[in-house]
Amino acid sequence: MLIKSLTMINFRKYEQVSMEFGQHTNILHGENGSGKTTILEAIHSLAYTRSFKTRLDADLSRHGQVGYQLKGLFADHLGADHEVRLKVESARKKLVSVNNDNLSSRAQIIGRFPLVSLTPEDGELTFGTPEIRRLFFNKLLSQVDPAYLEDLQTYARILKQRNAMLQAYANDGVPIDRMLISTLDDQRAKISVQLHHARSRHISEFKKLLYTAYGRLEQEKSLKMAFISNIRITASEPESLYRQAYQDSLVEDMRKGTTTRGPHRDIFSFFLDTKDLRKFGSQGEHKLVLVATKFAEGRFLENFLEEPPVFLLDDLFAELDVKRSLMIVESLEGEHQIFITATDLADLRNHGLKIEGDTLQVINAGKIQANG
Ligand SMILES: Nc1ncnc2c1ncn2[C@@H]1O[C@H](COP(=O)(O)OP(=O)(O)O)[C@@H](O)[C@H]1O
Ligand SMILES: [Mg+2]
Repeated sequence: MLIKSLTMINFRKYEQVSMEFGQHTNILHGENGSGKTTILEAIHSLAYTRSFKTRLDADLSRHGQVGYQLKGLFADHLGADHEVRLKVESARKKLVSVNNDNLSSRAQIIGRFPLVSLTPEDGELTFGTPEIRRLFFNKLLSQVDPAYLEDLQTYARILKQRNAMLQAYANDGVPIDRMLISTLDDQRAKISVQLHHARSRHISEFKKLLYTAYGRLEQEKSLKMAFISNIRITASEPESLYRQAYQDSLVEDMRKGTTTRGPHRDIFSFFLDTKDLRKFGSQGEHKLVLVATKFAEGRFLENFLEEPPVFLLDDLFAELDVKRSLMIVESLEGEHQIFITATDLADLRNHGLKIEGDTLQVINAGKIQANG
């Protein structure tokens, strides 16, 4: 996958700007606040219909404006062009089109324009709560498995309805409609099994890629990743097992006003030499696991989609030591389009990054007219 050009209108600090990108390494150069991350955010917003920083379109609209527009020209590895347009007119109105076909759901675009982003916020992936890792894997698996995305969306709808009832009961004593809860739990059990199987299957593939990636970066400790299902499946009748668990937890759910059991509580954890990374990992160890996870993400997408993802590397050199940063860039070069943000080109050059030649394009983010 390549992105060849980008237009932003009223997107964050940019009033109206168009730019073209090179096929290989693109360095976005500029001072802090010059708008480098915003360019990556725009690319991500086109490919996934939302930013990696916020879900609030109001934050993305240029201050004082309502709405924004993005247009990107992507090309797949067979050379076919795809024009993606995203137009936000108000808080509730977002239009996305690919080659002038308006999309009716996110599912129609997820997985078509694979990106791997590594930004300072991604630190949360190893440091943060289990929810962050669940979101990461949900996003990853959704891109390669449309049925998984559909199941996730259905599950989320059921959960929302169920939680609303539980909350109304816990807060205001509104009686629970037991027939309805039971119907919802039947549906939920069926989908839970599907989600569980998809997670187990994909995660075992993902782990192989992760361990390989980590082994390339670091040999001293061994990395393990665990997928811990909230409901252990042992029987050959997993659906009835889920149904039973959902029934058994109803009293507690009513007391707490929320749904306590199910795949929305599954856990993904990293372990270094059997020690929980989140509890015991050093800063450096966290970063290595993060980078390995991102590499594995890229491989995983590429294997399934047969399309090399674009890498968006934001502040990589500030985040990681130079030797490893260069290793990453060199291992991706040639096969992938890469975006790297940088405040100091001389520094990159001193560290051995080749900033010449036709494989590399420097975009001076600071010089792009941000304010018209
Ligand atoms: N919605 C917005 N409207 C106008 N300016 C914004 C908006 N959101 C962020 N900015 C400005 O954009 C700048 C940050 O851009 P960013 O792409 O993060 O820069 P960089 O990555 O080069 O440091 C800041 O100056 C910030 O005030
Ligand atoms: Mg930035």
